[in-house]
Amino acid sequence: MSEIILSGIRATGRLHFGNLLGAVQHFVRFQEAPDTTGLYFVADLHTLTTLKDPDDMRRNLKEIVKDYIAAGLDPNKSILYAQSSVPEISVLSLLLSMVQPYGDLIRIPTFKELARKNPDNLNFGIVTYPVLMAADILGPQATLVPVGEDQVPNVELAAALARRFNARFGGTFTIPRMMEEMVKVPGLDGAKMGKSDGNSIAIDDSIEAIGEAYRKRGVTDPKKVRAGDPGNPYRVVDVAKGVDEGCRSVYAVHELVTPGETSTREIANTCIAGTLGCAECKRMLVDRIAAILEPFQERRAKLAGQDDFITDILHEGGRKARALIRPTVEAVQGKMGLVIY
Ligand code: TRP
Repeated sequence: MSEIILSGIRATGRLHFGNLLGAVQHFVRFQEAPDTTGLYFVADLHTLTTLKDPDDMRRNLKEIVKDYIAAGLDPNKSILYAQSSVPEISVLSLLLSMVQPYGDLIRIPTFKELARKNPDNLNFGIVTYPVLMAADILGPQATLVPVGEDQVPNVELAAALARRFNARFGGTFTIPRMMEEMVKVPGLDGAKMGKSDGNSIAIDDSIEAIGEAYRKRGVTDPKKVRAGDPGNPYRVVDVAKGVDEGCRSVYAVHELVTPGETSTREIANTCIAGTLGCAECKRMLVDRIAAILEPFQERRAKLAGQDDFITDILHEGGRKARALIRPTVEAVQGKMGLVIY
């Protein structure tokens, strides 16, 4: 069975190191899987629900595509596009809204969260946000949607909407499976990277700046005060019991970026034994991060002035995405009784 993997990202900023490690590196790997198509788009219409500056959005959209390409997404292997370049998605969103119960939309946690964050701009786009997302997913008949924890309710709503439509109008949509994010990358404070302000590593930060950020703000095991104190590399959190112990932001990242189980075990063992201090451990971590980021940054620098190249990729990607989505939208129109004269 062929797999269609789909993921969208809002054009609110650049990627951070957590996106690169937790998501994009996996997308790059999927490119080599047999019978698999990856669709990666910038959700510019979703960005409009909380738009601040149109110029920023325009710029961010292209910057994200450059980040994707520098990270290894190949426009000949994956389909890269801007959501608004595929008008079929908007048409499908409108049609799906006729099947989606309103009450579910205002009860969904993602709505409550956006409503809380945007009390001064609670526009209707925020209410219909998950319906547009369902159109993103169901239009190309995606089989697998990798998402962060916060997006789980939206993908569940898309699957429920697909089932509801199929039950009423006959089998039309593939029910998407969800893939919860494969790795959670802790930020400097130990919270998920990107979740709290200032806890992220930007992928264009200099290695010196990253070193300084870890030195000054990287939170390790609070009980390991001196370099020679024994530490606990493994974080244990039990909110109910009020337990939060161990290293918050450094060791877990080692496990993601330091190759080889023996070297990570060595780091853990020397931390526990008290022969590895946090400063040295952080230095080792930054070296490993540099080994990933430096080649990325070199490729990224070459794309800096290549906006026309990015425009071409988005144009071509939009064309491919439209061709993929159109038959589904036509089928939906037909089943719902619409005739396009
Ligand atoms: N709502 C997602 C987010 O904020 C972005 C998104 C839009 C998306 N459409 C999607 C993600 C479809 C996965 C599938 O992260």
